[in-house]
This record gives sequence, C-alpha cells and structure tokens, in this order.
Amino acid sequence: MTKVTASEIDFNNLGFDYMDLPYRYQAIYRDGQWQDSGMVEDSTLHISEGSTVLHYGQSDFEGMKAYRTKNGQIQLFRPDRNAVRMQKSCQRLLMPEVPTEMFVDAVKQVVKANAGFVPPYGNGATLYVRPIMMGVGGVIGVHPADEYIFRIFAMPVGNYFKGGLTPTNFTTSEYDRAAHKGTGQSKVGGNYAASLMPGEEAHAHGFSDCVYLDPVHHEKIEEVGSANFFGITQDDVFVTPKSPSILPSITKYSLLYLAEHELGMKTEQGDVYINDLDRFKEAGACGTAAVISPIGGLEHEGKMHVFYSETEVGPVTRKLYDILTGIQFGDRPGPEGWVVPVEV
Ligand SMILES: Cc1ncc(COP(=O)(O)O)c(C=O)c1O
Repeated sequence: MTKVTASEIDFNNLGFDYMDLPYRYQAIYRDGQWQDSGMVEDSTLHISEGSTVLHYGQSDFEGMKAYRTKNGQIQLFRPDRNAVRMQKSCQRLLMPEVPTEMFVDAVKQVVKANAGFVPPYGNGATLYVRPIMMGVGGVIGVHPADEYIFRIFAMPVGNYFKGGLTPTNFTTSEYDRAAHKGTGQSKVGGNYAASLMPGEEAHAHGFSDCVYLDPVHHEKIEEVGSANFFGITQDDVFVTPKSPSILPSITKYSLLYLAEHELGMKTEQGDVYINDLDRFKEAGACGTAAVISPIGGLEHEGKMHVFYSETEVGPVTRKLYDILTGIQFGDRPGPEGWVVPVEV
C-alpha cells in the first residue's frame, strides 16, 4: 500500500476513511510477556493462517482521538479509560492485558510520530487512533492463542455520520448485536461482524445507522451500531439506556458528568422503551467517532418518530456538544485528568 503524505490531504474535507500513515506501534506477547515493542513502518501484517483472530474472532480494539488545540498543541481525551476498557475486553476473550501506562505511552508515541497528520484546529477534524489486539500463531482447536499482536495505527478523520451536528435519521433493527451475557460490553471484533448486515441494510434505506433493541423482548433501546443513545426528556433529564449488552461509551459517561456538573441537569441510566419516545424532546448518538450526532427521526415498524427536528439540532444537544468539544479541543478546562497533552 502506498503511504500517504500530509501535503496530499485536504484537512477541510475529511471523511472517515483508512489511510496508511508512516508510523504505527507494535508489541508482541510471547512466552508470557510483552516484547519487541516499538514503532514500525509496515502497515501489512504477516500472520499464520492458524491465527485465532482469523477463525475464532479472538480480537478486540479501541477508538480514540488526538485533538489539535487553538495554540497548535496536541491532546488526548481520557486515554486511560480506553486502556481500562481494552483490558476488560481482553479479559473477556482471554487475551493478555496491556497495562494502562504502556497503552497511553504507546498512543502518545503514535501521535507524536504522525504529528503532521493531526488536522489543524477549527473544523472538528481529528487524528483517529485505533489500538487493536489479536491472537496469532498456529492453533486449530477452539482455544486461545499463545501469541498476540498489539498494534496502534492512526489516520486523520472528519465526521463519522455525514450530518455532523445536523440531525440525521436512524431506524430500529430487527437483529440483535449482542446477547445480555455475551460480549456486548466488550469492544470485540465479533460484535461488529454481527452488526455489518443490519448496518448496511439501514444505510441502503437511507438511514445513518440502526438502533438495536434489547435482545430479550425487543422493547427497550440498547444503542446505535457505533455509538450509545441518549435522550433529553421534556423536563430536562439526560437519559441513557442501561443494559448489560451495550458498550460502556466513554463519551456517554463524560456527558453524564457534564450534563450534571456543567448544566445542572438530572441524569439517569435506565430503561428507554421504544414505545415511549414522546418523553424525549431531543435525542442523539454519542461516541468518539460520532461525537454527538443528533437523531432527527427514529423509524420503528414503519413509523417515523421525530424528536426535536429532522433538520435542526436541539438546544440541549448543542450545549452538550459545545462543552464536550470545548474540552476536547482545549478551549475550556476539563475535569481533572480528562485531558492529556502529547509532547511533540
Ligand atoms: C458499539 C459502540 N457503542 C458505543 C461507542 C462509543 O464509545 P466511546 O464513547 O467510548 O467511543 C462505540 C465506539 O465508538 C461503539 O462502537
């Protein structure tokens, strides 16, 4: 694959697409310990055909961003939370954990080595950082691997959902993404394999993505394929679904905190019934990639429920967006420890 150079990128018109940047970090887990760690240039992996990642989906990943501030510095947003979530995903799939310090240090190394690709401040573009972990080596029975690759690569990105802060429409899915006692809480490859078909069906019908309902009765909202759901009730409570099969979104937990401490709102993690959407005046999808993407309308069983508006972002959603992105891009201070500078 041909490596991209910063001068050929139009930072004002970025999509959400893979790019082969000059440097990535890699560490190998072998003989019970992490070794051979450091920066590499080759974006291609050479692994055994017997690797568990290829057969049994022994893989997990993370998604995080590096942000350029107004004065040109680069910062990360709560990278320790990604480290901990990856440790939990690895526990679930019997993969080795990367200690938080090693994880955050490796992310910094990747951002520093590719610093010329962190988009300029001003239009919301960022450097998306993708840590991945996989079982490799020759195994054929259904067993965990004894060798693992931990790798982190990055690329500049713009909006994940085309609308950005303009609302887009979503639809519920008749499929399940994860079972309650399955792997929904973990960021594992298999969850996303299961979401490809429902996601593509939603796109084919003109929706941004699908919203999954609870896998037991299909009555309660779980989450969006790549983001958590939130709603603002008519009396200004910030509500997000509570379920054992959704990914614990770092953005969601940040918004729960900011809604309460910056906007003085009540917050609630609880049941969100698909037949009780009138309680919400605004709704959105939140995540590292999605940031805050307002949900204009949500289609369910052929009927479209419109929240605030199909074309305009609601005032509470906008306030939350401004506070969250203000912290991420260094325009306002965040709570202790949320923002981590990258020295270049
Ligand atoms: C299924 C799913 N839910 C929610 C999220 C949001 O999580 P976070 O805010 O930690 O990025 C993601 C990832 O971005 C995701 O893939």
